[in-house]
Amino acid sequence: MNIVLLGSGGREHAIAWKLSQSPKLNKLFIAPGNAGTSGIGENIPISPNDFPSIRQFVLDHEISMVIVGPEDPLVNGIHDFFLEDDQLKKVPVIGPVRLAAMLEGSKEFAKQFMIRHTIPTAAFKTFTKENLQEGIAFINGSKPPYVLKADGLAAGKGVVICPTAEEAHRELYSMLMESKFGEASARVVIEEFLKGIELSVFVLSDGETYKILPEAKDYKKIGEGDTGPNTGGMGSVSPVSFANKQFMDKVEKRIIIPTMEGLKKENMDYRGFIFFGLISVGGDPFVIEYNCRMGDPEAESVIPRIQNDLLDLFLAVASRQLKNEVILTDPRFTGTVMLVSKGYPDPYEKGKVIIMKEEIRGSLLFHAGTKTDPSTGTVVTNGGRVIAVTSFGKTMKEALETSYTNAEKIEFEGKQYRKDIGFDL
Ligand code: AMP
Ligand code: GLY
Repeated sequence: MNIVLLGSGGREHAIAWKLSQSPKLNKLFIAPGNAGTSGIGENIPISPNDFPSIRQFVLDHEISMVIVGPEDPLVNGIHDFFLEDDQLKKVPVIGPVRLAAMLEGSKEFAKQFMIRHTIPTAAFKTFTKENLQEGIAFINGSKPPYVLKADGLAAGKGVVICPTAEEAHRELYSMLMESKFGEASARVVIEEFLKGIELSVFVLSDGETYKILPEAKDYKKIGEGDTGPNTGGMGSVSPVSFANKQFMDKVEKRIIIPTMEGLKKENMDYRGFIFFGLISVGGDPFVIEYNCRMGDPEAESVIPRIQNDLLDLFLAVASRQLKNEVILTDPRFTGTVMLVSKGYPDPYEKGKVIIMKEEIRGSLLFHAGTKTDPSTGTVVTNGGRVIAVTSFGKTMKEALETSYTNAEKIEFEGKQYRKDIGFDL
């Protein structure tokens, strides 16, 4: 089979690496990919949101599946675009249709869905420009800290937690009146602050059945001890100690099953990954967010633990035969450490040469923001998150130690990483 994979991050490199182990794969194209994916398949210079160019490529190269890594093409309706085109409709797309992707595309939509299906989540209210004053009054009537969320997609930056009412007022004003996150913050969800520990749970759905994949924990803050601004994610581990059978049974019964039933009842065809961003409050799971894709850097820890042929799983998703599959999980731990550019998540420089000082032993390197410099052929940084170092271990500690040993061997100017991934487990 010839396949197109959309995206260019560590998640896509991990998916590409896993797909390349399938005997069913003929040619893998990654649009646009990075320096890491170019060693596995062929990078093609097409943006994941350029649907007409993807269409032409699919028709010209006998592509029989399109796998969508990031959320924006899904929220922009790539799956619907394929279904509505006579020549494309037979080509399966792994990723939900637009309406279902709105579970990630609009926080308010996700909240209303959870209310309709009695799925535990934080209490909330939504505000717009027109009722800014009500928003201010709502903040005054609530307890700190205040959680403000831009309704739309904001590249993981749209959530602000304010310790005081004054800061929350300012933040609300800036989101609604000054378009702090552009159109995404034309609506703002203010919600109850939940205190607990977070967990990422992943499900693969074919629209009829679902399979639960290994869970993971991701470390979003730039600084050690979970301090400083949010990033796309600085590392991850899998499995997660508190996600024991008792807890995961609650997750399935209270969250996964009602979500899957809700999707069916509302005719939202869901073929792809569902990412449940959860928080455990005293042992009870609540949904913080839905995402319509795999997590990044969770994928780098989760995908290597899946022992199935990933292409077989995707084929089962496409043909709604997931009920015949059994997910096989490597019992070992994985630990991922993300190497990032100096300055990230604020503006940073690109184009720094990446050098391996010594041979990397016992880790997988998943490239994120990297590219091959066409004039010199060397690999250089091309993003905030640069390379994910993932290792297996009999314990979480052992897995992370190997990742840290190899992280030391990779050099680029301004390299930074958190040295405390897994500290809270
Ligand atoms: P999100 O983009 O929705 O995942 O939110 C980003 C981060 O904000 C989450 O990973 C949490 O750490 C935090 N967060 C979001 N909602 C809440 C909440 N209701 N209570 C506490 N923390 C939250
Ligand atoms: N690591 C969180 C995310 O992918 O949204």
